[in-house]
Amino acid sequence: MKGGIHLKPALLMVGLYIFFKFGMPLFTAPLPASLIMLYLMLTFSGIMIFMTLSGTSMESFLGPIFRFISGDGQDGTMKMARLAVLALFPLLVGWQTYTSTASSTAPPAENRTVHPAPPGEFAAMSNPVPNTPENVMQGKGLYAAYCSPCHGLFDGKGPASRGFNPPPANFKDPTTIAMLQESYLFWRIKKGGVGLSVEGMPWKSAMPRWEFELKDEQIWKIIMGEYDGAGQKPRTWE
Ligand code: HEC
Repeated sequence: MKGGIHLKPALLMVGLYIFFKFGMPLFTAPLPASLIMLYLMLTFSGIMIFMTLSGTSMESFLGPIFRFISGDGQDGTMKMARLAVLALFPLLVGWQTYTSTASSTAPPAENRTVHPAPPGEFAAMSNPVPNTPENVMQGKGLYAAYCSPCHGLFDGKGPASRGFNPPPANFKDPTTIAMLQESYLFWRIKKGGVGLSVEGMPWKSAMPRWEFELKDEQIWKIIMGEYDGAGQKPRTWE
């Protein structure tokens, strides 16, 4: 097999790989392996298109490869090289498949606490608004205006909910507000997704921070309306 015609494409691929893997991180964030793979595949397609533009270039590029693989008229060393390639290739594919599918003991990357402890100043709070039917009703009204687009009819399925991951909380689900205290909700509503503490990261919560739009009293009323509407009771210390 004459190396000449294959040398340049091979050097191009290796050079590009080194550039993407080690060169780019000098200027910007490291590229994910999948992106590097994509760029190399595109380069490879470009090379293949270029090399197969005419019959002669195709024959001179692919011919030696086909003859090498088919083993036509090979002498001792070439035969060995061919056998080695034919044996190594399936092994390589097998190893790659194994490493990508075997379960690993490493912890998942997004290992986070769904309900992190609220900051101290919130933990001791209790709802100062009396639980009267009128206040609950006002809370539900505010909820309908501000929260239902995402949280829907307390089931987390509002019209705007679909695009979000994590999805808006479903307050009817017993693992959300039913196992939380009112002070926790007050914190989450006031500070939103951006106010989550470190254990709650990394996640890209769309829950807005309401401290600028809503007065504290309105938030407490919404909380009462929320529990009432979802048919849940806040967790207390009794
Ligand atoms: C833009 C969509 C959106 C709007 C509007 C919205 N939320 Fe949320 N909310 C979310 C998402 C997404 C989550 C889940 C992620 C999280 O907990 O931060 C969430 C979580 C919550 C939680 C935490 C529940 C839990 O189990 O930890 C509470 C409480 C809450 N929202 C209350 C409200 C209230 C009250 C309003 C209205 C004042 C409101 N939300 C408006 C998107 C929204």
